[in-house]
This record gives sequence, structure tokens and C-alpha cells, in this order.
Amino acid sequence: MAASVLASGTRAVLRDPRPSDADRWVYWRDHGVWREYDAPWEALRPPLTAEQQQQTHRSFIDRCSDAHPSPRANAIVATTEGVPVGTVNRCGEKRFPDAWYVGISICEDACLNQGIGSDALALWVDYLFAHSDVHRIGLRTYSFNERMMRVAEKVGFAREAVERELILWRGEWLDRVSYGMLRGEWEGRRANATG
Ligand SMILES: CC(C)(COP(=O)(O)OP(=O)(O)OC[C@H]1O[C@@H](n2cnc3c(N)ncnc32)[C@H](O)[C@@H]1OP(=O)(O)O)[C@@H](O)C(=O)NCCC(=O)NCCS
Repeated sequence: MAASVLASGTRAVLRDPRPSDADRWVYWRDHGVWREYDAPWEALRPPLTAEQQQQTHRSFIDRCSDAHPSPRANAIVATTEGVPVGTVNRCGEKRFPDAWYVGISICEDACLNQGIGSDALALWVDYLFAHSDVHRIGLRTYSFNERMMRVAEKVGFAREAVERELILWRGEWLDRVSYGMLRGEWEGRRANATG
């Protein structure tokens, strides 16, 4: 199956995974500051052995030829030059079929703080609303991730809830901060941007 481009912006492109992304995919698993910010108490795992790296590489390539759902559950974030730099994803809960959560990671350290994440998140939200009937899109992060909070707010998410001091991490109590975007709010922003 051909790898589709799902959305293009001024800094980022969202597209399906390609076999040529596999090396970076394996590299990201064990490198990059992104792992320190994406719920690190869950994500920081021992490095893969050489055999596990090969297995991860193979399963990534296999995944590239799988049928992809519409709308996609995840995508590669690439630069406008086509270089893979991270991922976006979505998930939901059966009991709330009209609500999804999204996640984003820019996994190449040299590509942080260059506007790629803001562009990619806006493209992802736009793509998901445009290709589904979902009513709201949420995003959760932790209070040490000021960059994620800034980007969520820049893209137009409303700050909806703070669960204070939810987890003690490296000696600091962290809040979990929840953001949300309603379909009508996104469509209103789009209309204002183009009108
Ligand atoms: C969060 C993330 C997706 C943002 O993408 P990005 O490309 O780095 O961000 P952008 O360059 O688009 O925007 C960063 C914004 O945060 C601001 N910022 C950076 N560091 C900051 C800090 N310590 N405090 C406050 N704002 C900060 C920047 O100034 C910029 O805002 P501006 O455009 O108003 O100047 C990316 O940094 C990332 O993947 N981080 C690691 C993994 C992660 O945190 N994932 C999310 C888990 S919930």
C-alpha cells in the first residue's frame, strides 16, 4: 500500500509510516529527550538488545504494508523536506465514543522548538475532525511539560482540568493537566482563519 500524505503545513507533514523510517523508529525507542517528557515513569525502559532492535525494525516495516484505518490512529510527523522527526496518535475509550485523546512526540532533539510540534498538532486535530464525527479531542500532559502546555494553548485547546500532585517524580509532585477542543470550537477557529 502506498504511504499517503495525510496533511501538510508550513513546518510539518503528517504521513503514513514508510519502510525508510524504520531506522529512525528504532533509534527513537532509546534516544532523545522526548522520553523524559512523555510520562517518563511509563516510557523509560531498558535499551533494546541487538536482537530486539532487529525485531522492532522488522515489525515496523511489516506495519507499513498493513491496511490503515480511516481516520488514522497514528502518523509519522515529517519535516516539509520529508525527514521523519516524530509521531502523532489518538486513542479513545469505548464508553465515550464521541471523544478522543491525542498525543504527539517530536523525537529528534535537534527539531524541538522549531514550530514543528505546533504545526503537526494543528494538522492532526484538523485531520481527525475532518475525517470523523468525533465531537471532542482531548490532550493530557504533566505540569513539568511547559512546552506541551504552551503548544496546546497556541493550537487553541482549552485548559479544562488540573489533577494536582498526581504523581511524585524525581522528588517533584506533578499535576496532570487536561486540555480539550470541541468540534465547534475548531470549526470556528478555521472559519476565522480563512474568513
Ligand atoms: C511538546 C512538543 C510536541 C512541542 O513541539 P515543538 O516543535 O518542540 O514546539 P514548538 O516549537 O511548536 O512550540 C514550542 C512553544 O513552547 C515554548 N516553550 C519552549 N520551552 C518552554 C518552556 N520551558 N516554558 C514555556 N514555554 C516554552 C516556545 O517558546 C514555543 O512557544 P512560542 O511559539 O509562543 O514561542 C515537543 O517539544 C515534544 O515532542 N516534546 C517531547 C515529548 C513530549 O513532551 N510530548 C508530549 C507529551 S504529553
